[in-house]
Amino acid sequence: MPQRTGRFLTLEGIDGAGKSTHVGWLVERLEAQGHAVVATREPGGTPLGEELRRLLLREPMTHDSEALLMFAARREHLDRVIRPALARGEWVLCDRFTDATFAYQGGGHGVPIDRISELEQWIHGDCQPDLTFLFDVPTAVSRARLDRAESEGRALDKFEREAAAFFERVRSVYHARAREHPERFRVIDSTRPVDAVRAELARHVAALAAR
Ligand code: TYD
Repeated sequence: MPQRTGRFLTLEGIDGAGKSTHVGWLVERLEAQGHAVVATREPGGTPLGEELRRLLLREPMTHDSEALLMFAARREHLDRVIRPALARGEWVLCDRFTDATFAYQGGGHGVPIDRISELEQWIHGDCQPDLTFLFDVPTAVSRARLDRAESEGRALDKFEREAAAFFERVRSVYHARAREHPERFRVIDSTRPVDAVRAELARHVAALAAR
C-alpha cells in the first residue's frame, strides 16, 4: 500500500446542526492555503455510492440493511476516492463518515454497536480520520432549522423526518464517540454565530496542517 501523506478530515453532526454552512468555506480556505482538496460526502462520493445514497435516503429498509449498505458505499468510496487521494498527499474533506453509522444506525436505529465496530475494522480498520468536526446543537435547534427549511419548500429525507427521540439518541452516540476519541474529535458549538464557528475551525485546521 502506498504511504499515506495527506490529511483526512470528516464533518459530523445531527441533521440541521449546520455543517453544510461550513463545507464550502472550509474547502476554499484549505485551497487558499495551497492544499489540494478532495471534497466528498457519505453516503455517496462514487457513482455506486450516489445510487446507494438515493436508496438509503428514500426507501424503507431494515436497520441492518441500512448499516450494511452504508458500509458497501463506504468501501467503494475508500478504495476509489479516499485512499488514492490521501496517497497523493491531498486533503480529503468528507461530509459524514463512519461516526455517522455509529450515531444513526447504532444510536438512532439500535443496530448493535459491536456489529458496526466489526464492519469498521473490516472495511477501514487501517484508515481513520485525522480530525473530525462534530457540529453540535440541541435537537430542538436542529428541528427548528429543518422545519424552517421544509416550510421554505425543501423536501425532507427519511432521516430528517425522524422524531426528536431519534435525534436525541443520535446526538448522544456522537458525544460518546467524541469522548472515546478525543485525539481526533473537536466538538463545535454550532449554536454560535457563523464567524465564531469559522474562527474555531480555522484554528483546528491550522493545527492539523502543522502536524
Ligand atoms: P446529510 O449529510 O445531512 O446531507 P444533506 O446535508 O444533503 O441533507 O444527509 C445524509 C443523511 O444520511 C443524514 O441524515 C445521516 C444519514 N447517514 C446515516 O444514517 N448513516 C451514515 O453512515 C451516513 C454516512 C449518513
